[in-house]
Amino acid sequence: MAAAVIEQRPTPAGLGRRIASGLMAPFLYKSTGSEADEYHKWYFNTMVWKRTTWMGVETWKSVSDMWNYQEILVDLKPSLVVEFGTNQGGSAMYFANVMRQIGQPFKVLSVDVTHERLNPIAQRDPDVLFVESRSNVPAIADQIRDLRKDYPGKVFTILDSDHSMKHVLSEMKLLRPLLTRGDYLLVEDSMLNGHPNLPGWGPGPYEAIEAYEQEFPNDYTHDVDRENKFGFTYAPNGFLIRN
Ligand SMILES: C[S@@+](CC[C@H](N)C(=O)[O-])C[C@H]1O[C@@H](n2cnc3c(N)ncnc32)[C@H](O)[C@@H]1O
Repeated sequence: MAAAVIEQRPTPAGLGRRIASGLMAPFLYKSTGSEADEYHKWYFNTMVWKRTTWMGVETWKSVSDMWNYQEILVDLKPSLVVEFGTNQGGSAMYFANVMRQIGQPFKVLSVDVTHERLNPIAQRDPDVLFVESRSNVPAIADQIRDLRKDYPGKVFTILDSDHSMKHVLSEMKLLRPLLTRGDYLLVEDSMLNGHPNLPGWGPGPYEAIEAYEQEFPNDYTHDVDRENKFGFTYAPNGFLIRN
């Protein structure tokens, strides 16, 4: 028979100490300024993100970013989620799960150049449209335009396909006429090329955002509070709200 666990109630003095330590914690904590960066590097370089699953399907994200996306989706209540870069489909399924909980009509469009790795568990999700295509082609723009008509409302877009600067810039330009005021654009993996991971990787999403903003400086406002909320993100400079 399992032994009964008897909870010890704290004495009034013990309770006082607990409350005081809780209240004082934010003031006693002294940041060195580098722990978020170090944790980010640990997170990336141990490849824990490659062993992260959503409902059994690999999802190559930082979990704090996923929490952030959930909060954004609940506030934004989009009717369309567009993801470039499906891989196994864990992230598409995650977006559909969150959207179903929000409870309004929606669709998730997830585009990948290959469905070789698409997991059948994800494939069965009735609210995700998986399309096998390069992301930066006119047919995908047409599909987004059509889905906007079928699912009127806000759009949440996330770029997570080919992370070269050239490709990401082409995706951002493809989306330019498709996104409207208040829509959200998340440019993932801008932490590559030394921001702070894989220095020397070469121009990637971070540099694409810079190049885009040089050409179109008034298109987006940076959602800096969200970007900074959890200390580190795989999308530095990449939380963008369409003006
Ligand atoms: C980082 S993975 C996506 C991860 C996924 N979103 C997740 O969170 O689990 C990148 C994917 O982009 C796809 N990809 C590469 N180049 C592409 C392109 N030109 N168009 C569309 N997808 C592409 C790859 O096949 C790969 O599955």
